[in-house]
Amino acid sequence: MEDISSLPGSCKPDPKITGNEKSVIFQPTGRRVAANPEKTILDLALEVGVGIESACGGKGRCGKCRVRPEGPASEPSVQEKDLLSRGNDQDRLACQTRLLQGGTVWLQEPARSQKPVILTTGPPIELQMDPMLRSHELKLSPPSLADPKALQDLLLEKLGEGGDVYDLPLSILQDLPKLFKDKKGCFTVVTRQGNQILDIAPGHEIPVLGLAVDLGTTTIVAYLFDLKNGLPLAVEAQMNPQISYGDDVISRIGYCMGNPQRMSVLSSQIRACIDTLAAKACKTVNVSPRRIMDCVMVGNTAMHHIFLGFDPVFLSQAPYMPVTKHGIDIKARDTGLAFAKEARLYWLPVKAGFVGADTVSVALAVHADEVTQPTLILDLGTNGEMILAVPGYMVCCSTAAGPAFEGGHIVYGMRAGPGAIEAVEVDSESLTCKLTVIGGGKPLGLCGSGLVSLISQLAALGVITSGGSFNPRMMGSYLRSSPDGLEYVVAFADQCGFDHDLVLTSQDVSEIQLAKGAIRAGVEIMMQELGITKLGEVLLAGAFGNYLDPQNAQQLGLFPQPEQNRILGVGNAAGTGSIMALISSKERKHADFLSLNMHYLELTTHPDFQELFVDWMAFNGHD
Ligand code: FES
Repeated sequence: MEDISSLPGSCKPDPKITGNEKSVIFQPTGRRVAANPEKTILDLALEVGVGIESACGGKGRCGKCRVRPEGPASEPSVQEKDLLSRGNDQDRLACQTRLLQGGTVWLQEPARSQKPVILTTGPPIELQMDPMLRSHELKLSPPSLADPKALQDLLLEKLGEGGDVYDLPLSILQDLPKLFKDKKGCFTVVTRQGNQILDIAPGHEIPVLGLAVDLGTTTIVAYLFDLKNGLPLAVEAQMNPQISYGDDVISRIGYCMGNPQRMSVLSSQIRACIDTLAAKACKTVNVSPRRIMDCVMVGNTAMHHIFLGFDPVFLSQAPYMPVTKHGIDIKARDTGLAFAKEARLYWLPVKAGFVGADTVSVALAVHADEVTQPTLILDLGTNGEMILAVPGYMVCCSTAAGPAFEGGHIVYGMRAGPGAIEAVEVDSESLTCKLTVIGGGKPLGLCGSGLVSLISQLAALGVITSGGSFNPRMMGSYLRSSPDGLEYVVAFADQCGFDHDLVLTSQDVSEIQLAKGAIRAGVEIMMQELGITKLGEVLLAGAFGNYLDPQNAQQLGLFPQPEQNRILGVGNAAGTGSIMALISSKERKHADFLSLNMHYLELTTHPDFQELFVDWMAFNGHD
């Protein structure tokens, strides 16, 4: 998780601050907030913009918000003691602990914000430029006694010489006197399909910019494009600042549904983040964000609702209906974004409560409606969205796979970032682990690809049984007993970035079993629906899919082996789809077509789901 100090409204650290009884000071950032014995350390951290990992949204279930407080504190509950049974006994959970008279809070690794690895690239695309916007370079003379016309008429007559009729919004009318004062009379007018005028500026070298935004639950990526020639100008990315309110969409929905104030907090965080990304991207090309005329956004349905100010209450209960499924075409300023005054914003359509515009965007990027063989497209983040496409037909669904593949609910789980183990090689004799760590330093935890790599190999070696338990007959120095059952030592304390052993617990294995059982059950149901028994190709979208070893994923049983083992990572395909919709109006329409023509399967009520889910929780199951 990223330190959110860079966000607007965050406090700057004060290096002179020292501890006192009336304040809580977060170290090593040095930020201070007034002590309040009614509030948890996590609440105080959020107030002052200190990022603390809080995968369960502060419910005391994930154990990720471990900090080391100094000063009198509330007594730990049994649940908290249970979660803290590993590691240093001075540690507490930030979401459960209140400092009674202030004090100092030391942030721990990996609870402290990590710089994430954010995937910005997707599959290659070849597109014909066909943007929604056009720029017209005009030469206009001011009114004269010989031709006494209003400024509006002078402009519209020139612009409409080809026979088009344009609307001139009030904000542009207000600018006309200033513009006509320019004696040279050269203007660039930016218009949009539908004959709306979006901007008018003096001169003929006016940049016309577009921004495509992939708004993920975990990360936000913004792509800046020149809409005159379709060329990419800059990419900026950042962790979603809402992450302090929970790792997954369920936590975010739970936090804000039915509560307009909390909704407003979450949506303004996103707006501020997008404005910051846009400003950074524009700075790299030395242009003002006020030159952004068009923006396309994609994201899951919960992010869509929270950004647009729709109460997500109906996403939390069957039948999980969104407020709207249609693409949304509005003025960017109506959402508070600081682009050009008349800039437009388009949200791609969503398909269902848990199949969002990001999935539609993935379908667009990989041309899901043009496949020539059965193709499974998996986008595994904090939720598992998937599409199965055969020539002429597509189905999609979503499974509540949970955040395990992003390191959530795993004792030493973390997102892909510096210190995360991304791959392992388990020695079949000694059971020692050779680790590949992102950034090359000492390991701090396991990210999703590391977990899949480790568990698939332990299952293949028989250290994990097909039922998902550790095999007691394999006990030794690496597989050992603990108060919570057997555990496997991934790295001993002297090899880690902290002072205790890094282990994989029985509970961690169960979390992965639940996630993979849910995903595989979804895949099987889609295959049944289409009447196919073999896959031609598997496309893995998103960060997890990109870093995953495809063979490990298949060995774990996430999906059946495709013919000729064709398993491809397609990167941030959702981001690519958003770019396509930004620079091509045809692709924007194509996204509508895909959304209408993908058939949605509701898994929660499917009669076979439970049985398949239980079957596919097994390792080395049916393949
Ligand atoms: S246990 Fe504190 S945020 Fe999850």
